[in-house]
Amino acid sequence: MRRMVLFLSLLSVPLAAPAAGSAGADLDPVEVSVRDTVSLQNGAKLFVNYCMSCHSARFMRYNRLARDLDIPEDLVKKHMIFNDGKIGDPMLVTMTPEDGEAWFGVAPPDLSLIGKLRDPAWLYNYLRTFYLDDSTVSGWNNKVFPNVAMPHVLSDLQGIQKAVFETRQDRNGSTHDVLVGFELVREGTMTAHEFDDAMRDLTNFLYYMAEPARMVRITWGIWTLLFLAVFGVLAFLLKKEYWRDVH
Ligand code: HEC
Repeated sequence: MRRMVLFLSLLSVPLAAPAAGSAGADLDPVEVSVRDTVSLQNGAKLFVNYCMSCHSARFMRYNRLARDLDIPEDLVKKHMIFNDGKIGDPMLVTMTPEDGEAWFGVAPPDLSLIGKLRDPAWLYNYLRTFYLDDSTVSGWNNKVFPNVAMPHVLSDLQGIQKAVFETRQDRNGSTHDVLVGFELVREGTMTAHEFDDAMRDLTNFLYYMAEPARMVRITWGIWTLLFLAVFGVLAFLLKKEYWRDVH
């Protein structure tokens, strides 16, 4: 019996882990798909324009991006490579980690694999929940990453929002301020809906970048299953044929 309990508790560990990672913050869901090329193209555009001044993506090369996302190489060269980089170069930034640390207190991490470290819902909510906060060094705070050192670099698009808190009492009788929503104090160039869509595309791109092979894998997976299905039918017919005289 005890062994059984141990076995069950082991089983439940990986199930419980993702929930613990997003503790406290209820995340809006997001759907990502590496087969949605238009969304990935838009995400890539946002990434090079708004993120690559600080973050690199050193495991991704521009020509791979061009091929996977179906963007002609000359367009990538013209609109996505801002330094004198070549099409086969990795996506690096000129900022050194030391500069990053001096400016923000924390060096902006490389984002090649962030889509593996953080799940899509976390990234989607992170990008949408920056809010004004006088008490932090940058003047910004974030709902899913409290006291983050990154400023809200998309405030032109989203607008500027402040957080709405509600005081709630927990079971022990002590009170806490709980973040219950946001209030726009300055409009951005996008509506809330447009901004959500754009952040879905950016999340999709980060998700793709963490494992570009996912694209090929899904296609191969479908073909493999089809092959197995056809082969299974053939094998069954053959078996029937071979055993016909025996029965
Ligand atoms: C002005 C510089 C700057 C720009 C531009 C910027 N970031 Fe950041 N970012 C930072 C810094 C600094 C951190 C580290 C925050 C910390 O650890 O407190 C960070 C952290 C992050 C993290 C969290 C990493 C983790 O530890 O889980 C993500 C995700 C991220 N950035 C995504 C983006 C995306 C996407 C963009 C483009 C929309 C972007 N950043 C643009 C400076 C920047």
